[in-house]
Amino acid sequence: MSLKLEKIKVNMGGNEILHNINLSMNKGEFISLLGPSGCGKSTLLKTIAGLNDLQEGKVILFGNEIQNIPPEKRGTVIVFQDLRLFPHLSVEKNIAFAMNLNKVNKKEQKEVVKKLLKDVQLEGFENRKIKELSGGQMQRVALARALAANPNILLLDEPFSGLDEKLRIEMGQLVKKLQRENNMTMILVTHDKNEALQLSDRIALMMHGDIIQYDTSYNIYTSPSSKEVANYFGKNNYFIGTVENKIFKSDYFEVKCDKNDGNYEAMIRPASIIIDNNKSDFQIEEITYLGDFVEITLKKDEKEILVKSSADILSKDCFKIGNKVGIIIKEEEITYFEI
Ligand SMILES: Nc1ncnc2c1ncn2[C@@H]1O[C@H](COP(=O)(O)OP(=O)(O)OP(=O)(O)O)[C@@H](O)[C@H]1O
Ligand SMILES: [Mg+2]
Repeated sequence: MSLKLEKIKVNMGGNEILHNINLSMNKGEFISLLGPSGCGKSTLLKTIAGLNDLQEGKVILFGNEIQNIPPEKRGTVIVFQDLRLFPHLSVEKNIAFAMNLNKVNKKEQKEVVKKLLKDVQLEGFENRKIKELSGGQMQRVALARALAANPNILLLDEPFSGLDEKLRIEMGQLVKKLQRENNMTMILVTHDKNEALQLSDRIALMMHGDIIQYDTSYNIYTSPSSKEVANYFGKNNYFIGTVENKIFKSDYFEVKCDKNDGNYEAMIRPASIIIDNNKSDFQIEEITYLGDFVEITLKKDEKEILVKSSADILSKDCFKIGNKVGIIIKEEEITYFEI
């Protein structure tokens, strides 16, 4: 176990911001703290780094309780969205800042900086001033500076959120590559669900000061523990129905399932529904073209269903607003919530 958080409570400005946070991660693991603005992601990250007081609980890093140890002695490094580089200093001096404080000899400093600049794909940038760099280049310098401190856990608080989409994806992939190659333990704070799903071994989804699910990217998407989790990852369809003898029946379809008898709400993601041209119980209400795929709203009585499909479906003649189609549900992709 590299990091273990036990029953963390944090108050700020008279309010309890984090309620009872438990979390553990392995060495070399990449996890994301994901959640909406204000849910407490940065507060939790700062609590790990020692930049926040905590009222209750333990922060255990590689077996040592560190909640009462000052930030600079924890071995944690945090990179913030605003990067906090020194604009008037060169790239080299920024990266070597901690090594300089620790009186590492100059030759070694130069070698480390050179290697790190190669790692972050900024070879030869040693003498540039920070203020002469683009936003993406500054991010890379901030990353190199963080790595230069050789942290036992690297904490990233939305460092890429100011970049355009292409650069953000590139930076995410670079961080993931460095993390894998160096077996680094890393926590990324983000409110970008795609970034979290793509990069993380596990995701801790936070809402209003609690972690509501902590699981692998795959499990959290395919087996959400609540509607709140399911809805965070996108628009969904819900059908109320009943299971009897391993058959779920709703007003709109019946499927086999492995649930016990009872009342359930079936959650079905738009991509888990296939349009069936051989039936005609739903009317096509709306078609939204989104490049590679389309979102189609179907309607029967007052019930609207959202379907996500590959865009080549549009080449079929029958596929027009007002036409009638049916649906096929991928039954193995349904999540059932007991009601
Ligand atoms: N120093 C502070 N004093 C009082 N309240 C604070 C303080 N810092 C944060 N908060 C409150 O704690 C809550 C959680 O804030 P936090 O910054 O951890 O959220 P976040 O999940 O990082 O949000 P964002 O995605 O917007 O960065 C918010 O309601 C915020 O107003
Ligand atoms: Mg934040």
